[in-house]
This record gives sequence, structure tokens and C-alpha cells, in this order.
Amino acid sequence: MINQIDYTYKDRVWCGKINEKYVNKEVKIYGWVHRFRDMGGILFVDLRDRTGIVQVVVPSELKRIKLSLEDVLEVVGIVKERPIENINPNIATGNFEVVAKEIRILSKSEPLPFMINEDYKDIKDLKIDEATRLKYRYLDLRRLQMFKNMYFRHKIIKYIRDFMDNEDFLEIETPLLAKPTPEGARDFLVPSRLQPGKFYALPQSPQLFKQILMVAGIDRYFQVAKCLRDEDLRADRQPEFTQIDIEMSFISKKDIFLLIENLLNYVLNNLGIEISIPFDVIDYNYAIKHFNSDKPDLRFNYPVKKWNNSIKINLNDENFDINQAYYIFFKNLVLTRKELDKLNEFLKQNNLKFLYLISNSLGEPSFKGSLVKFVDINEVDNYLRKENQFYNGNYLVFVISSKNYLNELILIKNYLIENRLLKPVKDFYFLWVDNFPLFKIEEEKVGNKLIRKISPEHHPFTNVLEEDKDKVYMIYEQLKKNPNIIYDDEFVKEVLSIRSLAYDLVLNGVEVASGSIRITDIKFQKIIFEIIGINEEEANRKFGFLLEAFKYGVPPHGGIALGIDRIIALLLGYSSIREVIAFPKTQSGTCLLTKAPSEVDLSQLKELGIKLMEVN
Ligand code: AMO
Repeated sequence: MINQIDYTYKDRVWCGKINEKYVNKEVKIYGWVHRFRDMGGILFVDLRDRTGIVQVVVPSELKRIKLSLEDVLEVVGIVKERPIENINPNIATGNFEVVAKEIRILSKSEPLPFMINEDYKDIKDLKIDEATRLKYRYLDLRRLQMFKNMYFRHKIIKYIRDFMDNEDFLEIETPLLAKPTPEGARDFLVPSRLQPGKFYALPQSPQLFKQILMVAGIDRYFQVAKCLRDEDLRADRQPEFTQIDIEMSFISKKDIFLLIENLLNYVLNNLGIEISIPFDVIDYNYAIKHFNSDKPDLRFNYPVKKWNNSIKINLNDENFDINQAYYIFFKNLVLTRKELDKLNEFLKQNNLKFLYLISNSLGEPSFKGSLVKFVDINEVDNYLRKENQFYNGNYLVFVISSKNYLNELILIKNYLIENRLLKPVKDFYFLWVDNFPLFKIEEEKVGNKLIRKISPEHHPFTNVLEEDKDKVYMIYEQLKKNPNIIYDDEFVKEVLSIRSLAYDLVLNGVEVASGSIRITDIKFQKIIFEIIGINEEEANRKFGFLLEAFKYGVPPHGGIALGIDRIIALLLGYSSIREVIAFPKTQSGTCLLTKAPSEVDLSQLKELGIKLMEVN
């Protein structure tokens, strides 16, 4: 029996790292009981630590110990090669086993609320519900797949720090107890005890501080920054999440693109993921027009095209106007009978007024589908193949004639993607979306009235594209003369046409980063505030410190923030960022492990000068 742990942590051998170099040697391993089997005289224990599992053989003389799943063990034993018939090809250490000389239970486990040794290919296939996983997160995190997620996250952030350091960026922490930041969500507020009636706001991002750091001459700043936003949650949104926040002085938009492309290339290559740089760049307006989205997923690049009305479709349907018909052409698509039936069902359910043709053979047209009887098959086939670079493989084409054609065609495309019927051109498609509008129009209900207002599309410190600067002055003048002009459609069109120096980075159809070149001209900044309805008093109260700082020599600057939770989730193939966050919150903002948010003692509230009232 060993009475005390006399090895240092450096002598420790990881369960998952037992290999031929340890054969016939003594090792000491620690871990949790993953499984065990009593085979008459001998007990076989699968011992698991974060690196993997190794089989421990407990000879009969040590067998008096009584094990439960997830007990914590210390084992000293000799590594042996397993007899061929006992090799387990499913685990990395499957050729070896540790024959225990000494074994000690360091901690017992009670019966588990759920099994963590069940076989699963993917976390997504787990049968237990997420709430239980989150309540017992420490058990859930013991799964090797969850450890891999945490490890991957750790490595990504480490490589980011290495790269940024090498490019002369300084990591600077900015305050959490701060003032409201203008990212457009609600703030989390923290009451001040020392100044009753006053509140800090937790930062939605370090936006204002990083700009102040540019005025302070830091020049190149980054931070692995926690951001807090009180907003409705979704699979890719958490109330607290992490940004890789970046700001640079004396640069243009191109520099930010270059930096981020090199950063991601460096980081992902280190993790064994190949990507190609530079990333494609598309204009915001182009994206909206062709993909109906400011974050198109170009892994599936199927643009919507106008149907040539000289290629007749003799359908007698008043809803089908051939002059207003559009189509999407899906190359290399062969659907089974079952897939086709399911697709038909989906189209019916969504009441999609469409026609489709399907060609299932190479060269010779052989069509199925509801369109077949209304067209000259050869004519349509020739037309489609010619229009699509003389393509001669299988295809599926949808033709839609409706006001909503773009939405409807994209709905069909998304169906095909979700059902894995389309093949991506590459695994990870990064795309810059450039020239975002400077403003958006928001409608707010005040009483029974809908009030329109102009809001920043990114945030109010985003600069305008030089060519569109005059339009900003014009809008400002018009608004000053007549504030109600915002209800005029022509005016709204003009407002929305102003382009900014803001950009997003999209990965596989998800917005993973966003940034802009900032305004440094105080006069122009004030005009923007006026346009978005922030008067001088409010501007000074909220952002006075920034405007003040700009009086003392402000370098031109710009930046970006990467939503690192989203990037990690996408790279690992998860649709929910909760899988890559150690302690995430639920849809209602609850931490099921700690039960936060929770009530506080009345005495605490009293100290803060706060009295609770009924809210309905
Ligand atoms: P933005 O608000 O667009 O920009 O945020 C940058 C990126 O952060 C990610 N993100 C989120 N991830 C998880 N949960 C959320 N609730 C959440 N909200 C945002 C997204 C997004 O692209 N200060 C500016 C950046 C700048 O201008 O430099 C900012 O915060 O991936």
C-alpha cells in the first residue's frame, strides 16, 4: 500500500499516453474509473484521464477493493503488451495494459446522474438533455470530446497570442466596471455601493477603451476580451462571450484584412487546418442582391439567375409569369427516389410555387419532375447546359416566378444544404463582406404610433466611405430642416445608400467578425450623433471622454473583433457555441451549475440603496 504520493507531477504518466516505450516498466497513473469488468479472478478497469483510456488489470490479490464508476484511482503497475486476441483497436493504448501492483481509491463517486461512458460518435448524438449536462457540467466536461473542445480553444487562443505578439500588438486589459458601450444591445448594470443611485455598465465590447488606447499611442492593441450583452439568446449567442478584440493606428481597411487573413492562416495551420488566403471579398449590396443575405455561405455558391423568357414554359397558371421567372441550377445532384419524395413534401408544405426539372443522366436529357410536361425538354436542356458553361453532368433546376423568388429559392437551397444533398466546395469558407451601409432605419412603437429613427448599422464611431461623405452632410441638413422627412421613402432610400468603412468576416454563412475604420474628426462625429438622435448633451454625457481625448491628437485608426466562440464552434462542426464554452448559460440566461442569477439578501440591497418592485 502506498501511503503518500511521492512522485512529482513530472513523473506522472498520462493514461492515454501509455505506449511501447513503457513496456515492462513501472508507471504511476491517475484517473477516473470509466468502466470495469469482473472476470472471475481478475478485475479489468478502464482508467480515464483527459488524454484517454488505458486498461488496468487488477490481479486477484488486490481485488478486494470495491469500485464504482467515476471513482478516482491512483495505480502503480507494470506496462505489458496485450496478447493479440485482447488488443483493442478502438483506443490509442489498445495494445497495452497496466498490471497493477498497488491501487488506491483517492475518492469515491456516488451513482451518476447520467452515464459518461456511453458510446457516442458525436456529442450531438447524446441522448441526455442539455439541461442535465449543464447542471453537472463537471461530469460532462470529463468526456474526452469535451476535453478536446477545451484543448482546441486553449490552443487557438495561445496561437493568437503568439501571432499578435510577433506583430507587435500589446494585450491590454480594459475595465469591466465601465460605462455603456454603443453596440446596440441592452447593458448589464452593476449598482455602485459607494455612490448609491449610480451604476456601472458591463462592457458590450471594449470599443471605447480601445479607441482611447489609440489616442494614448499604444498603436497596436489586442485583447482576449469578455463582452457582456443582455440580448435574446440563440445557439450562436451568449450573454457573455469572448472576442479577440483588435485596434490599430495608421492603417487602412486593407491592413485589417491582411492582418486577420495572416492571423487565421497561422493559427489554423498550427492546428492542422488548411485554408487559402487571401479571402474573397464581396460587396454588401452584391451579397444582398444575389444571396439575400449579408452573410452568404459560399461553400454552396449557387447564385440566382434570370430565366430566359424565350425558353418557353407552357404552364397555364396565372401565378406563373415567365417574364418574372428566376432559377437556381444545382450541378452534380442525383437524388434518390426517397430524397425526391421528401423534397416534394417540403416544397408542398412551404407552399412554394415552383417548377423543377431533374436530369439524371450524363449527356442525354432524362427528366423527372413537375415541369416536364410543359417544356420542350431538349430546348431547356441545351439552354441550361449552355448557360452553365456547357456543363454536361447531372443537375437539378428550380424555376420560380413570384415576388418572393429570392427568399423561396434560398429556402430550397437551405433545405438541400441541411439535408446534406449539396457538397461544399471547401470545408471552411471565409469571406469578407465589405461596404456595409452606414445607417439602418429602426422602427419603435411609442403608444400606438410607429416612430422611425436612423441608427448606426455598425456603431456610431464607424467612418463613412469618402465618396459618400457629402450625402451625410445632405441628410443632416435635410433632417435639421424637417425631422419628419424620415417618413419619406425617397429620403430613407438615400439614407440607406450611404456606405461605410465597416466590414464583416463570414465563415460558412455565419458572421464571425466585424469591424470598421473609425471617425477621428470630432465635428463629423457630432454630425453622426445628431443624425442618429443623440444630442450634444447626451453625446457629452455618454461619450464625452472620447470626444475630449480626440482634441489632443488622435491618430487615424480602425479595428475589428473576432467572435472566437463562433469560430471555434464552426471549426469543430458544432451549431451551438455552448459546446465550446466551459460554463455556458441557457436560453433564459441561467447558469444551471451555480443557479445564477439568484436572489440576494435584503441587507445587500439596502446597502446599495435598492428597493425591488413588482414587474409584470
Ligand atoms: P460586434 O458587435 O459585431 O462588433 O461583435 C463582433 C463579433 O462578436 C461576435 N458576437 C457574439 N458572439 C457570441 N454571442 C454574442 N452575443 C455575440 N455578439 C457578437 C460576432 C461578431 O461578429 N466593437 C465592435 C467591433 C469593432 O468595431 O472593432 C463589436 O463588438 O461574431
